[in-house]
Amino acid sequence: MRNKKNYLVTGGTGFIGAGICKMLLKLGHKVTILDNNSRGKISRLFKIKKKIKFIKGDIRDKKKVFNSLKNIDAVIHLAYINGTKFFYEKPDLILDVAVKGLMNIFDGCIKYKIKELYLASSSEVYQTPTKIPTDEKEPLKIPNVYNPRYSYGGGKILTELMGISYGKRYFKKLVIFRPHNVYGPDMGNEHVIPEFINRFKKLRGKNFKIQGNGSETRSFIYIDDFVRAFRYILQKGKHLQIYNIGTNEKVKINILAKKLSKIFNKKIVIKKSKLFKGSTKKRLPNINKIKLLGFKQKIKLDQGLDFLVNYN
Ligand SMILES: NC(=O)c1ccc[n+]([C@@H]2O[C@H](COP(=O)([O-])OP(=O)(O)OC[C@H]3O[C@@H](n4cnc5c(N)ncnc54)[C@H](O)[C@@H]3O)[C@@H](O)[C@H]2O)c1
Repeated sequence: MRNKKNYLVTGGTGFIGAGICKMLLKLGHKVTILDNNSRGKISRLFKIKKKIKFIKGDIRDKKKVFNSLKNIDAVIHLAYINGTKFFYEKPDLILDVAVKGLMNIFDGCIKYKIKELYLASSSEVYQTPTKIPTDEKEPLKIPNVYNPRYSYGGGKILTELMGISYGKRYFKKLVIFRPHNVYGPDMGNEHVIPEFINRFKKLRGKNFKIQGNGSETRSFIYIDDFVRAFRYILQKGKHLQIYNIGTNEKVKINILAKKLSKIFNKKIVIKKSKLFKGSTKKRLPNINKIKLLGFKQKIKLDQGLDFLVNYN
């Protein structure tokens, strides 16, 4: 196998995709992006955009997908509809992109004999896990097919199930990764950290509303750490293996709000509210598997939040 490869990154102008593309170029690889820019922006890649081949198109468009796969050695499939509010508003569209997009990638890889494929899954496949921290062996769940929230996690479960089956038959290296709450500059507003930051910027008075009672926990991984972790998967990940990517740094949502109130120097009184239906109370990955590949978290939450607030 050649050291320098031609990668296709679907969803490459998205938040995570842009980070991955920059890393690939730094390593000397060639990069093609297929993205419809529904949430992606080429400006995320402004310093390197001349070095990248950008194809604007929908992952559901078979012809476009096949065209972008010509002369490609390996595919990183990220294109997907993200953002919690879309799970509730457009569950059918989420599944359409998940299923048709994935099938086009499989069919194209088979046609062009591309043997290396990386599939983005999500922590949402665990829903309410039986174990915290949660390792990759945890059973995956769709607790209620009537709750549109699970369109997102359901699409990812399907991605994994099909990934393993197709992987066995058609690929030499097919790897699945499950990101857990990645954050960083220019990530879009439909996530808890940028949403809090935007509200702190405009905050008048002390009342600060949060989803839930504040005791819900998450762990967040800064984009630079995420890209480092993904690089280990690219270089050392094993065929048909699944890797959590995240950190062990558990934080309660009310503590996250308090950390930001300190950075903004604005005193707050937290106002609780109802959690979204189907939102999980605790999420923390077991990251032993990715650590065994060499990954170590470098950017702690306090430092990452500081970067982010000062970046904006
Ligand atoms: N950010 C996280 O914390 C997180 C957590 C779990 C999983 N993931 C997964 O990682 C991947 C990247 O996420 P992200 O945070 O960069 O999200 P993002 O929304 O920034 O990136 C997704 C990209 O896919 C593109 N896209 C959407 N629909 C498309 C379509 N029909 N055709 C072509 N392109 C399309 C969007 O324009 C966008 O650029 C996704 O698969 C996501 O589900 C992310």
